[in-house]
Amino acid sequence: MRFKFLLFFGFLVIWFFIYLAGLSTLHASLDEREDRATEPQPASEQQMRWWRDAKFGLFIHWGPASLSGAEISWGRMDRIEGGQEHQRVPADVYDTLYKQFNPVQFDADAWMRLAKEAGCQYVVFITKHHDGFSMWPTKQVRFTEPDKPAHYSIADSPYQRDLCRAIADAAHRHGLKLGWYYSTRDWTHPAYLQDDNQVYNAYYEAQIKELLTAYGTVDILWFDHAFGDWSQYTIENLFKMIYELQPRILVNNRAARGLKNIPSGPVHKLVEGDYDTPEQRIGAFQHGRAWETCITMTECPDGGGWSYRPDGRTRSLKECLQILIRTVTGDGNLLLNVGPLPTGEILPEQVENLKGMGQWLSRYGETLYGTRGGPWIGGTWGGSTYKDDTVYLHILEWPEEGLVLPPTGATIISSQVRTGGSAQVNQTTDGVTVHMESGERDPIDTIIELTMQSLVTEIQQP
Ligand code: GLC
Repeated sequence: MRFKFLLFFGFLVIWFFIYLAGLSTLHASLDEREDRATEPQPASEQQMRWWRDAKFGLFIHWGPASLSGAEISWGRMDRIEGGQEHQRVPADVYDTLYKQFNPVQFDADAWMRLAKEAGCQYVVFITKHHDGFSMWPTKQVRFTEPDKPAHYSIADSPYQRDLCRAIADAAHRHGLKLGWYYSTRDWTHPAYLQDDNQVYNAYYEAQIKELLTAYGTVDILWFDHAFGDWSQYTIENLFKMIYELQPRILVNNRAARGLKNIPSGPVHKLVEGDYDTPEQRIGAFQHGRAWETCITMTECPDGGGWSYRPDGRTRSLKECLQILIRTVTGDGNLLLNVGPLPTGEILPEQVENLKGMGQWLSRYGETLYGTRGGPWIGGTWGGSTYKDDTVYLHILEWPEEGLVLPPTGATIISSQVRTGGSAQVNQTTDGVTVHMESGERDPIDTIIELTMQSLVTEIQQP
């Protein structure tokens, strides 16, 4: 009897705590919703947390442009904006590529499985690039001429199915965070930057609304520069709408980037977004504000390589891994880009690279995910990450005389080489030195784990 009573009482207590926990999360999410929609503001540290820990995302540039093998959007001739070096495809040819876009091999599930296998925590998919083609069946009307497709979207292609739906559903199924890339610049919309730009402004805001309404949770909105004057847009309304629809979303720093006359003050801070986006280069060490390097796995002499470029070179697995390591030790995230073929396949050598990265990360991921860059700022030699009282040195290129690091306030109590072999680590008031036999060094990254006497708090300043 007594036992039954205790059991019942125990259940009651547990139920009460579950109820309380439910109430507080509900409250927290309501708070966020109110805060960000009424007074649009960048994400809090807490809202950024998953992204900070994630470190690695997959960027996918795709569309009818892949049929031409020329750079997406930039390959179209006679554009209204500069940058002549990529132009290869006559505009009338480029603008009708969608009629042949039929990626029958496309398998969103396989792509997302691959992203997972690679160790990516999020994906960012092109919904509309500067060429104006929508990868989902948008309801917004672009052309009114009878010989042009009213919506210029995937619904006008032989394929017809909604690519954004497939990506969103598969990403959600595989537990990947979902990001939409959206280019505000639009080189085929007839009303883009015409008169006061009102028609185009309404068009693109309505498109953003579609993308944030119909696909469940969207975690990231990745804009790609704007053109014209601040007065030709209603960016504050845009942000209000974004936060109303997706209160936890993160927005990069390109929603208004490129516009003239952006007012200073709170609006300026708002449009600076949640993180910086150095492109085709690894960002410098920056521990305060968040940043993400976007880089193509295909290297092209003209600096492109975002979309499928048969004339490009696929970087080696070592290069890809070292780009990831250099980025994370600089306290940034890496958004690594692939440009799938028009059939819907990803180049086999790029698939191999992604799998190889995943294999490496399954052994050493702990030294990157969930860490922060520092306490030592990296250099040609490599860099460091830390978590609590543990520091990981990532040595990519050994200096002749061994590694010499400046002094740090924290005391090293033990060291261990994670990649095998042994190293001599010495700490004095002058700094830290690390030596290792050349035959024992890892060809990609020698990882040395240092256990410190206390939590790492002192970060070297650039
Ligand atoms: C640049 C390019 C664009 C690419 C983007 C990715 O803005 O214009 O083609 O999508 O970088 O960061």
